[in-house]
Amino acid sequence: MKVFVAGATGVLGRELVPQLVARGHEVVGMTRTASKQDALRALGARPVVADALDPDAVAQAVASAEPEVIVHQLTALSGKMSIRDARHPERSFAFTMTNRLRTEATDHLLAAGRAVGARRFVAQSFGAFRFARTGGPVQTEADPIDPDPPGARQPGLEAILHLEEAVTTIDWGEGLALRYGGFYGPGTSTSLAPDAVMAEPIRKRRFPIVGDGGGVWSHVHIEDAAAATAIAVERGRPGIYNVVDDEPAPVREWLPALASALGAKPPRRIPRWLGRLAAGEVATVMMTEARGASNEKAKRELGWQLRYPSWREGFAQGLG
Ligand SMILES: NC(=O)c1ccc[n+]([C@@H]2O[C@H](COP(=O)([O-])OP(=O)(O)OC[C@H]3O[C@@H](n4cnc5c(N)ncnc54)[C@H](OP(=O)(O)O)[C@@H]3O)[C@@H](O)[C@H]2O)c1
Repeated sequence: MKVFVAGATGVLGRELVPQLVARGHEVVGMTRTASKQDALRALGARPVVADALDPDAVAQAVASAEPEVIVHQLTALSGKMSIRDARHPERSFAFTMTNRLRTEATDHLLAAGRAVGARRFVAQSFGAFRFARTGGPVQTEADPIDPDPPGARQPGLEAILHLEEAVTTIDWGEGLALRYGGFYGPGTSTSLAPDAVMAEPIRKRRFPIVGDGGGVWSHVHIEDAAAATAIAVERGRPGIYNVVDDEPAPVREWLPALASALGAKPPRRIPRWLGRLAAGEVATVMMTEARGASNEKAKRELGWQLRYPSWREGFAQGLG
């Protein structure tokens, strides 16, 4: 099939493009950066340069590719994140730009897909930290979203809800939104690279366990996330899918294992009130109350098999 990947140079896109090519697809990869075209060619894609926030440029890029399937992997999350960003995501460039990519750019890509007669649309979503903080520790796609999330998170939540709603209700094709777990592995924020955004504070013991560390997180290795996406390009009914590993786990379990895999000392522990003071309410809730996600639907309906079914082997063997 002809597949158009918006965000082909991002952390997921770089894994996805070669997997799509290996599965026999013809891939056109979009970047807004002309100097990245050779890198896209090296991955096996035909590059096209367009700004995802410019509707005419997106329409033209998609029309030139005539894709059967469009994949939306646009974010603006690369770059350093600070505690300030965690405290005030509404003021962070990375988060506000990502919100625009999840709303405006989604709409531009959908309009372009409809105009060109595409029949399938697969988009990056995010599940963690959005579930209602009631019920069990692990939730499915059918469980409710948090009706009362900590305030500063609201714009991000709305952008993701917009994306999921817009994508999964298209009437001109099949729309799938993939709620990825936290990425880890080469090129991601959690890798052996010295400047990896999440790994760095863990190495410096600036990523403590807050309170009882009972918040449950779902992870996924970047290679497994790309594999699920490549399958979703080909099959699976419209709707939302959790693309996470088999073992959602509380922070107090996975964080020490990750620290050890990174060669760091065990994380410090701080009480909840201090966490709130230092990192804000959102981060504290993530550390203490978050719910994890079940991958049963993605495994059942996509036939997805994971190379790293648990972060336990993944952190030990798949970070670098
Ligand atoms: N589930 C998760 O845990 C999750 C999800 C996403 C990201 N992350 C983390 O966030 C960090 C950054 O991820 P990333 O490298 O994928 O993000 P990124 O480099 O900021 O951008 C991703 C893609 O979006 C494209 N893009 C952004 N704005 C665009 C625009 N206006 N027009 C056209 N294309 C645009 C980029 O294209 P060009 O730069 O080529 O122009 C790139 O291909 C990583 O550390 C990753 O681990 C985590």
